Amino acid sequence: MEQLLAKNENQVIGIARSQQELVHPRFLALALDLSDMGEILKNLDKMIPEWEFEKVVLVNNAGIIGPIEHLGKLDPKSIHQVFMLNTIAPAILMNTFVRKYGSLKEVERLIINISSGAAKKAIDGWACYSASKSAINMLSEAGAVEAALDKTGIRIFSVAPGVVDTDMQAEIRTADVKAFSTLSKFVGLKENQQLSSPMHTASKIMELMDNPSRFEGVQQDVREY
Ligand SMILES: NC(=O)c1ccc[n+]([C@@H]2O[C@H](COP(=O)([O-])OP(=O)(O)OC[C@H]3O[C@@H](n4cnc5c(N)ncnc54)[C@H](OP(=O)(O)O)[C@@H]3O)[C@@H](O)[C@H]2O)c1
Repeated sequence: MEQLLAKNENQVIGIARSQQELVHPRFLALALDLSDMGEILKNLDKMIPEWEFEKVVLVNNAGIIGPIEHLGKLDPKSIHQVFMLNTIAPAILMNTFVRKYGSLKEVERLIINISSGAAKKAIDGWACYSASKSAINMLSEAGAVEAALDKTGIRIFSVAPGVVDTDMQAEIRTADVKAFSTLSKFVGLKENQQLSSPMHTASKIMELMDNPSRFEGVQQDVREY
């Protein structure tokens, strides 16, 4: 957020459930639960507003790992919540973005979906998370094919951010090894200071945001550029 706001021309809308502490004249905080369909539909026009801009970027970042447990032991409601937040909310926001901005050819338009390495790797205990991120990759790929056919000029990326030192990683390290056989690997990454910093990851996402023409293809991994 700080890196985005460091540029005077940027206006930022930030969405999270919690009240955000950041107060800035060019920042609008929306306190919303993106796993709640009713809240999403009620607030679509605030999240994807009609403004005069030269460039507009949708970053679908909010995500949860969900309970780390094998299939057979999951609460159906948690399955719904993981897919709702990680896949369905981004799909609805992408759909609204394309509907509202698809014809604004003079405006540079980007969608950056935050995916995961787990989208391409089966990890026990993370079945719904992995599947929700695979779906994000394919939503992005198909969206890019449609953008080319419809000549909207919208660029769409699905970006794996690496393993980042955030609350999500802290939550992953509390999992039960019986449900998650690679627990020790993730504990070791933290202990050996091998997690990326959120600032480093944000600067990589900014690099993509600022120079999309340098990137070919939809699926990107910050560890590869
Ligand atoms: N950290 C990693 O190693 C890693 C690796 C691969 C991919 N990713 C992906 O990177 C993205 C960011 O993850 P992170 O590591 O920063 O996770 P995090 O530390 O848990 O942060 C998640 C963010 O999503 C928001 N959020 C969670 N539930 C929400 C809801 N129902 N409605 C609206 N906002 C919600 C949270 O704010 P509130 O709690 O206030 O709502 C918070 O800002 C996710 O898509 C994740 O899958 C992370």
